[in-house]
This record gives sequence, structure tokens and C-alpha cells, in this order.
Amino acid sequence: MSNTGIRKDITRAIQNAPLPSATATRLIQLISQTEYDLDEVLAVIKMDTGMTSHILRVVNSAAFNLLKPVNTIDRAIVYIGAWEVLEIGLMNLSSFFRDKKLTGYQAEARDLWRHDLRTAIAARELTRRSSLEIYPELAFTAGLLHDIGKIVLSDFFPLAASRQASDLIQQQGADFIIQEKKLLGINHAEAGAELAAIWKLPGSLQAAIHHHHHPSRADQIYKPLVFLIHLADILAMMDGYGSGVDILQYSLDPSYLDYYNFSSDEIGLVQFKVEEEFQKMEAKIGTG
Ligand SMILES: [Fe+2]
Ligand SMILES: [Fe+2]
Repeated sequence: MSNTGIRKDITRAIQNAPLPSATATRLIQLISQTEYDLDEVLAVIKMDTGMTSHILRVVNSAAFNLLKPVNTIDRAIVYIGAWEVLEIGLMNLSSFFRDKKLTGYQAEARDLWRHDLRTAIAARELTRRSSLEIYPELAFTAGLLHDIGKIVLSDFFPLAASRQASDLIQQQGADFIIQEKKLLGINHAEAGAELAAIWKLPGSLQAAIHHHHHPSRADQIYKPLVFLIHLADILAMMDGYGSGVDILQYSLDPSYLDYYNFSSDEIGLVQFKVEEEFQKMEAKIGTG
């Protein structure tokens, strides 16, 4: 099929992709505001029986080792804290692609999910150590969703093409995202941005998804978040958690230093924390 033919099919697939639930959309909108009310966020979670039962299942799993089973969100907050409850709710956003194999990227089930979770935790930890005001929950959500375009593109990326792209990069040192565009007429960041627009995600998250590989192209207002995700994404890959054939096949934009000037010791601490948190969260959510 020609490049233009594939492009049309990709557009159709993006338009037909499942929408996040109304609760998930509301949750994202709330935490993307410059100031949000945690009680309002928790009230949204409580009204969704699916999300509530997911959270209670996780809280009652062996990972939390509670003495008595918990059967309401309010009790869960008492035992594990409101932030942790919110984070488990946010993790629900990535459950629809958790077990998807990204054949086009030669990624096994959960490879993308693990990469996204590590990016999310790294983004959250980096923002906690930065003087720039970005809510850790927003950073976490942007990390979870930054590669959603891959979920659509994978089905259009023949295995041979992904190998060809990877070989070309090794020979020429080019970015994987450029090869994606050559092969499919669209890259995963653009495909993700189209999905994000259909899902009506807030502008900050649309920008993080669209520009996470070329953060200098983002609107000024969104650059702190976009550079944060750019950095967190590279850290996840440096730790060996990519999502297939494209691992470490992207370049780091040195302009991140205009926003974040972490020392190598701080980066080391973030990597340590990511490893620790990732093991905990995978144990809690991964089996749920
Ligand atoms: Fe990416
Ligand atoms: Fe990524």
C-alpha cells in the first residue's frame, strides 16, 4: 500500500479509537488546572463504580498487606492516603493498553505500559525536585500517556519496516521519529496528538504528547511540562525500559537545561526512586 493509502487508514483508526471514560476525562481536566481541589477529584472517583472497584481491588491486594479489607474509597484514603488513591485512579487510564503487544515496534505485552509507568514516575520525581510549578499528578499523567500514538501506529508498521528504520538509524544516526514519518506519513507523536485532540485532553497534555521528542517546538507556555516529559522519557529508556525496537533511538534536546539543571547526583537519586516506586506500583497494579 502507498504511503498516502496507509496515512488515510491511520486517520480512520485514530478516529475510531476508543474514548476514555467520562470519569477519566473529568479527572484529567481537574488535575490539569493550575489549582485543583483534591476533595472534588476524589468525589469524581467515588461516583464511578468501575474506578472505585478497581481502586479497592488494588488496595485490598496482597501488595498493601492490610489487616482488614477496605470497602469504601473513604476507608482507602484513611489507610493509604488520598494521593495514593488518586494515583491508582490515574493508573486506570493506561489499563486499556496494558496488555497490548506492539508488534510493529517488536514490543511484548506490557513493554509500553512499563515504559510509560517509568516515564510517569520519573516525571513526577523530577517535578518534585524542580522549582518550576507543575503538579506531580499532571506530570505523572503526561508520562503515562505520552506514547499513546504508538498504540495506533503499531498495527500499520510492518515488522520489516520497523527493522529497516532501526538499521537506517544505526547507519545514519537519524531519529526514529523521522523514519516513522518517512515510512507511514505520520510519526507516533503526531498520531498521539490527533488522538489527544479527539479525546479533548487539556492543551498541556496535548502538547506533551505532540512534542515529547522535539520539545523546543511546543508553545512557550507548555515548554516546562514538555521538556520534563522529554527528560523523563529518555531516563526511562536509559534504565533499559523502552517500548521495543526504537529504544534510545531519539536525541536529547539540550535546551532542557533552560528549564531543568539537575546535577548527576540528583538524576541518580531520581533513577533510584523510580526503580523503587516502579517495583511497588507494578506489584500493586500489574496483577490487578
Ligand atoms: Fe515517544
Ligand atoms: Fe516514550
